[in-house]
Amino acid sequence: MISRRACFRNLLQSLRTGSTASKLRSSNCFTSRTAPSLQPVVELSPDSDDEYADVDWDNLGFSLRPTDYMYITKCTGGDSFEEGHLSRYGNIELSPSAGVLNYGQGLFEGTKAYRRENGRLCLFRPDQNAIRMQVGAERMCMPSPSIHQFVEAVKQTAFANKRWQIPPPGKGSLYIRPLLMGSGPVLGLGPAPECTFLIYASPVGNYFKEGLAPLNLFIDDEYHRATRGGAGGVKTITNYSPVLKALTRAKSRGFSDVLYLDSVYKKNIEEVSSCNVFIVKDNVISTPATGGTILEGVTRKSIIDIALDHGYQVKEQCIPVEEVMEADEVFCTGTAVGVAAVGSITYQGKRVEYKMGDQCVSQELFSTYMEIQKGDIEDKKGWILEID
Ligand SMILES: Cc1ncc(COP(=O)(O)O)c(C=O)c1O
Repeated sequence: MISRRACFRNLLQSLRTGSTASKLRSSNCFTSRTAPSLQPVVELSPDSDDEYADVDWDNLGFSLRPTDYMYITKCTGGDSFEEGHLSRYGNIELSPSAGVLNYGQGLFEGTKAYRRENGRLCLFRPDQNAIRMQVGAERMCMPSPSIHQFVEAVKQTAFANKRWQIPPPGKGSLYIRPLLMGSGPVLGLGPAPECTFLIYASPVGNYFKEGLAPLNLFIDDEYHRATRGGAGGVKTITNYSPVLKALTRAKSRGFSDVLYLDSVYKKNIEEVSSCNVFIVKDNVISTPATGGTILEGVTRKSIIDIALDHGYQVKEQCIPVEEVMEADEVFCTGTAVGVAAVGSITYQGKRVEYKMGDQCVSQELFSTYMEIQKGDIEDKKGWILEID
């Protein structure tokens, strides 16, 4: 019997040698069904048999570098998604009245695949992204892939694009972007009749142009990221464009990003545009409690667990901006940013600076987080999924 891995290789080979759709249909391990309203129509990325893609890994920031394959499936009526398939990375065709285009019915996720020193490809807690997508889908009135289907799809996408994952380890990773969207046509406001689950990938380096240098955050008391009863707690696409105004203004003034305040009292910190935030005062770690306006980051959750294991007291609570201004340390967490030290925060014209460097709590926690990912310390929590 042909192994799943060999089967996968055959599939990739058939994708490389042309007639993608028909070969996918005849493949006995990944069946493809036609997707009339959403077909890849343009092939963008060149294929190659090179073991590793030609990327300037040392200067790689967080920008899109199209890879070879994407995964796609859809759900038309009912709650289940069809068996998905890989196809060459390319543009997709959407109805002008697709729910995602007209009413923003969409979610995204972000996770990373990376290569260990021993050459193995790994994912970090992709089941947590799957669960978050399910919670978000419920909020946005969409069906969601099962946890198993989500994780399998992420594995397939990572493995199909494995030549974009680098040797030597540590220089970057393959960022994997699952999308769930209302792809069917709607005119009056309502859930789209068809949803598409698609995953693409891009090799990435540091998220912030500062690299590993500390971040300088700006607390914005004019624009808010989320409101009570809104959808700030899920990863809907509609949470991101509204912050662009505050973000571009802060960047034009030389800041790295914006730290948002709650929209009711305008005095408690919530999170940064694309990461969670922690403060450290007298060795006690605090982070804003999630209550529907803050995204429950996978990294946030992991860092809290690591901090507790290291014996720290960790509080998830309301954090008034005055406490932030008096903290010893501030740091941000996220899949894209990792654990990033904050060097300064500016609020209403006042700038405060924080402790940085190797002795910091954030460094200690980040080291353990990385050691678990790299396999330098035992993964007792079952966070790592090896995919080859
Ligand atoms: C608004 C926001 N907060 C926090 C995070 C961090 O979440 P995670 O650690 O799961 O990447 C992200 C990143 O996805 C985000 O977009």
